[in-house]
Amino acid sequence: MLKMQHPEFEVWGTGLHARSGVACADCHMPYVRSGSVKVSDHWVRSPLVNIRAACGACHPWPEEEMRSRVTEIQGKTAELLRAAEAALLSATEALAAAKGRGAAEAALDEARGLIRRAQMRWDLIFSENSTGFHGPQEAARVLAGAIDLARQAEIKAR
Ligand code: HEC
Ligand code: HEC
Repeated sequence: MLKMQHPEFEVWGTGLHARSGVACADCHMPYVRSGSVKVSDHWVRSPLVNIRAACGACHPWPEEEMRSRVTEIQGKTAELLRAAEAALLSATEALAAAKGRGAAEAALDEARGLIRRAQMRWDLIFSENSTGFHGPQEAARVLAGAIDLARQAEIKAR
């Protein structure tokens, strides 16, 4: 298994915001008023807790519209994450069954390699913490790859 650690930068880098020069701090450290001075918010938390400050400076959309732009992307990404998890479980179970039937270790290497590649792709998007928002199309591309590789592994193991 390979563990992805904090891949937000890599996924954000594939999105329209990065392409348009919008950086992490623009959304995660929006300007706030403190008495008579304007400072950047140092909580570095979810932009959804203060969506007007986080997104409103650039997008004049109503708050509910802005929130639904995020949750729609997240809902679609979550659907693909669950499909990738189901495919990974099927592959792992097929591999365990083949082992149980006494398959030689070397014969299972190809299936194991495919599971490893699938699991890494799933983890890249799962560990990325925005549930697809930082780079929606890239998240879908990577998860489609994860599902494909996991199903290939299942077929090999069978
Ligand atoms: C265009 C706005 C935008 C930009 C730019 C952006 N993010 Fe995000 N980020 C979001 C949104 C929206 C979420 C989802 C928050 C949620 O689901 O509550 C998020 C979630 C996160 C989370 C999880 C936060 C939590 O509390 O759940 C982390 C960590 C994060 N982003 C880091 C980064 C980093 C690092 C960068 C730059 C490389 C970046 N973000 C760039 C909008 C942005
Ligand atoms: C510093 C300015 C800035 C901030 C802050 C910002 N955006 Fe954007 N956003 C942009 C720009 C620029 C684009 C690209 C517009 C274009 O090319 O037509 C964009 C595009 C988008 C799009 C369209 C993406 C697509 O693929 O069609 C959505 C949705 C969006 N932003 C949502 C948000 C949300 C939600 C937040 C707050 C979490 C946010 N933005 C914060 C500047 C910003």
